[in-house]
Amino acid sequence: MNRTIELVKTIYEIKQLENFDEAQIALAGRSNVGKSSLVNRLAGRKKLAKISSKPGKTRSLNYYKVNPDGFFLVDLPGYGYAKCSKTERAKWAKLIDAYIQGNSQLKAVAVLLDSRLKPQKLDLELTSYLRNMGIPIIPVLTKSDKPKQKERSIVQNQWQDILQQAKKPLLFSSKTGMGEEKLWDILAEYAGE
Ligand code: GTP
Ligand code: MG
Repeated sequence: MNRTIELVKTIYEIKQLENFDEAQIALAGRSNVGKSSLVNRLAGRKKLAKISSKPGKTRSLNYYKVNPDGFFLVDLPGYGYAKCSKTERAKWAKLIDAYIQGNSQLKAVAVLLDSRLKPQKLDLELTSYLRNMGIPIIPVLTKSDKPKQKERSIVQNQWQDILQQAKKPLLFSSKTGMGEEKLWDILAEYAGE
């Protein structure tokens, strides 16, 4: 299927949150993990979402509409940005919490995890938070073009154990397109539920 993605809304504060009738799948992950690059890859456009080698680029919640399916991909601000103040971090956590709580249209959260790193504390916190909230987790190992196959599969197995899912996390690369078709299938499946 030929899909297109367009940015329909950007919000910075809790009071800007609104309820949408459309199904939503959020993208979450540590700052610099490759969320915006993934959006651009799926969009087939290099400059839809801002990318930076400096972490902490995305500070807002960005709603992207997927056509013709009609569901939203919601790019959440990256967490764990070292240079960000405690107040800013608390603000991030509150915004995410407000977005997730009571959002009946949120079908799943795609959690982006760096394929080169063993499971990190902040990632474990996020996944257990989502699990406690009963929100399905779609684990996506980003930058999978970088590590050797052997290292990649170690990380893949570690996450499979932690998440206790039947399937292994998806290997994805915005650079090469690895996993792109599979990711679309998974997203569309969750969005349609
Ligand atoms: P924040 O907005 O800060 O939360 O970051 P982000 O998660 O949106 O990350 P972003 O997409 O901006 O990418 C961060 C850096 O990683 C950039 O330098 C990208 O070029 C690089 N990158 C992202 N995806 C890939 C990938 O699949 N392969 C490789 N090799 N590099 C990648
Ligand atoms: Mg970003």
